[in-house]
Order: sequence, then structure tokens, then C-alpha cells
Amino acid sequence: MKLIVLSLAILAAFDYSTSEYSPTIIPINGGREGDGITTRYWDCCAPSCAWDQIIHTKNRKPVQTCKIDGRTNSTVEQNAQSGCYDGGVAYMCSNQVAWVVNSTLAYGFSAASFTGGVDTDQCCICVLLSFKGQLTGKKFLVQITNTGSPLAVNQFDLAMPGGGVGIFEKGCSSQWGTPPWGWGRPVGGVEFEEECNQLPADLQEGCRFRFQFMENVDNPDVSFIEVQCPAELKALTGCGD
Ligand SMILES: *[C@@H]1O[C@H](CO)[C@@H](O)[C@H](O)[C@H]1NC(C)=O
Ligand SMILES: *[C@@H]1O[C@H](CO)[C@@H](O)[C@H](O)[C@H]1NC(C)=O
Repeated sequence: MKLIVLSLAILAAFDYSTSEYSPTIIPINGGREGDGITTRYWDCCAPSCAWDQIIHTKNRKPVQTCKIDGRTNSTVEQNAQSGCYDGGVAYMCSNQVAWVVNSTLAYGFSAASFTGGVDTDQCCICVLLSFKGQLTGKKFLVQITNTGSPLAVNQFDLAMPGGGVGIFEKGCSSQWGTPPWGWGRPVGGVEFEEECNQLPADLQEGCRFRFQFMENVDNPDVSFIEVQCPAELKALTGCGD
């Protein structure tokens, strides 16, 4: 009798763990893979994969950008200047942020460099990042929407509101009226989860992601493999195969 009770308890635990949503993740044969480092940013600027002259070689659509409200599609004004420059009107859309899919998997967006240079030919690919260290067992599937020359080889600069504006002082200050250094510090951004309350409502969940799913671990190392982009990510950027 005791034995039956025990196996029922195990069955219940098993059912619970498999009841989480588990989307199919499809690795790309011969795709990019390796070990990498992460940082984080949110400079409010239109991401570099939003310019069609940058990504036209791959016949992909540019990443969708938004007007100053962070919601209205501004991609229609093709190649509008980024709000990070004088007279710019295109900003990062506030919904291009991370969200939790299940307790071990999240989806989101990232800037990246694979070569240490500006890898615009990698715009809109997707990679599955497997965190190392304290976050081992958790994975973050990101679409690459941005790139940049200050990035190192295999560096993923994760797009997280309140993650720091870096060297771009004009984006968040013109879009949301922050000081030039944005929310928190220019590199790293806010320090405490409560500071996410300072951000516009649309960006607060994306800010808390770092403190909740990522357990406030600072720039964890990762291993990565290239995977097919989930429809949910492509729907938010309009970019991808
Ligand atoms: C979350 O989804 C991924 C992808 O399907 C799956 O491998 C993982 O087991 C899921 N996590 C849990 C806790 O169910
Ligand atoms: C945004 O505008 C572009 C250009 O007109 C269009 O291709 C894209 O589908 C639009 N995105 C949405 C979500 O409506």
C-alpha cells in the first residue's frame, strides 16, 4: 500500500514538470555554435538590423522599428534616422524584449558579434544561448536584431530595458526623457529590481526579466547554437527567414 502511494506521488510530480509549455526548438545543421559572453543594453535606438541597405544582401525585411511611443510601427518610413541621432525618429519597439516561456526557457532579442566586427550578415538569425554557472539549465533563445563595432568575438549584448544605454546618450533621453546616461548607470543600467518601476510601463516587465528569470546574475557566460527562429520572435520584428 505504501508503495502505491509513493508511486502516485512520483507520478504527480512528473505530470507537473511536463505540464509546462515546451516548444520545439530546431537546431540548424552546420549553423553557428560555440562559447560566448553576454552583456546587456537598452539604448532605445533603432537597431542596426532595421536598415534595409544593411540587410538587403540576404533578402530579408528590416527589423521593425517604432515611433517615439515605442508602439506605432515606423518601419513604413523606410530607413528613418535613429532617435539616437539629431532629428532621428525611429526607436526600438517596446515589445522587442525578453519573456519567459517556461521555467527553464525564455525568448528575446540581442545584439551580437561573432567575429568581433559589425556582423550585419548575421542579422535576424536566432541562437539558443545556454547559460553557464549559477544559471546552468536555463536557456535563452534570442533573435539577433543589432550588431556593433564595440562588441567582442561571440558577444551577445542582450536587449533588456534598464540594461544600460552604453555610448548612446540621445535615444532614451529623447524617447522617454531620461538623463543622458539613461536609467541607472550607462553600463549595466539599474542595480535593483525596484528601479524597474522608474521605466515606462511598457518596459517594466522586460526590465524585471534580469532580476527574475536571470536571478540578477551579472553577464553570465553561455554556450550557443544557431536554431530556427520561432514564429513568435519573427512576428515581433518582421525579420527572419
Ligand atoms: C521548456 O521548454 C523547452 C523547449 O521545449 C524544454 O526543453 C524544457 O524541458 C522546458 N522546461 C520545462 C521545465 O518544462
Ligand atoms: C510595419 O511596416 C512595414 C513597412 O510598411 C511592414 O512591412 C510591416 O509589416 C509592418 N509591421 C506591422 C507589425 O504591421
